[in-house]
Amino acid sequence: MIILGLETSCDETGAATVEGKSNSNKVKLLSNIVASSLPLHAKSGGIIPENAAREQIKFIIPVIKEALSKARLEMKDIDSIAITYGPGLIGSLLIGVETAKTLSYIYRIPLIPTNHLLGHIYANFIEPISNFKFRILNSAVPEFPAIALIVSGGHTDLVLMRQHGSIRWLGGTRDDAAGEALDKIGRILGLPYPGGPYIEQAAKTGDPNKFIFPRPLIGSNDFDFSFSGLKTAVFREVEAIKQLASPEGGLNNQTISDISASVQKTIIDVLVKKTVKAAKQYNAKSILLGGGVAANQTLRETFNFKLSTLNLGAQLFVPTKSLSTDNAAMIAATGFFNYKQINWQKVDANPSLYF
Ligand code: KG4
Ligand code: ZN
Repeated sequence: MIILGLETSCDETGAATVEGKSNSNKVKLLSNIVASSLPLHAKSGGIIPENAAREQIKFIIPVIKEALSKARLEMKDIDSIAITYGPGLIGSLLIGVETAKTLSYIYRIPLIPTNHLLGHIYANFIEPISNFKFRILNSAVPEFPAIALIVSGGHTDLVLMRQHGSIRWLGGTRDDAAGEALDKIGRILGLPYPGGPYIEQAAKTGDPNKFIFPRPLIGSNDFDFSFSGLKTAVFREVEAIKQLASPEGGLNNQTISDISASVQKTIIDVLVKKTVKAAKQYNAKSILLGGGVAANQTLRETFNFKLSTLNLGAQLFVPTKSLSTDNAAMIAATGFFNYKQINWQKVDANPSLYF
């Protein structure tokens, strides 16, 4: 079965094709195209939903055409269309949903409405386009029960997955998501938007133990997170440093690096601790990471190190970096493993969709 996936929940416009066989544990990636309006939002220091939606309109058809042509496919070869119907920005979601509905109607192709958050988990069920290096890295298949940590710009959630389609939400952030905290802290440090990758870059030359920031809920009995206090603590620290500095009150590069490294460590410590706790409690055979923050190399390495030292018996899965951030391949994969076609008339965007 060949599935065309479409993703337009925020500032990325994605179209991808995957092939899944009835007994396969992973789908095969045929093409994966992402157009991003990020440079536009970088200028405004954050996403203006209206602008993101306008960009989606510009990109959606060219991106679909390119995804088909890269895979040497035509619409007649597509068996189903998987489309993100939430959560996300309503204007952006509508472009993808209405495009998918139109294609479904014209070409008589079944539609599979798909949860974007589930998509981040299913990025771990994709066999990337033939590449010797990746083949070795990704040859294993996640086994159940699995604990999935979704760390994106808008969400930080821990879920238990007993099998495909069986998802239990264990906990999530009570305020800012990890990515959101990184983006806000990036702004405080004067880094470009989105802060996550820039903080990762700055952290490379920083001391992660220079600043001790609060780790709320790290020892709590639940699987919840809280990151808004971290942002406030960084803000106070930066204000104090500026007061002591020259009259211009700027931050020097080393301080930015030290704060970045310390913030990164704080967030990773909490994420690892809670995920390991969930994996132990539910005897997880796999730990699946997903979402833009999972592209962070230190996060990946810390998880890897922790799991190897703890001997938990759970294998770690992390998507390639391009499959960690928003893309349509993960949506197509979700559609394949949760195949439930819905008549196009009944599909609507749902910005506040959750688990
Ligand atoms: O999953 P995603 O692409 O979009 C959403 O669904 O939100 O996640 C975007 C988030 C942003 O907060 C961004 O700063 C963060 O992922 N991010 C990173 C890195 N790359 C993206 N955070 C830390 N390190 C990175 N390398
Ligand atoms: Zn996302």
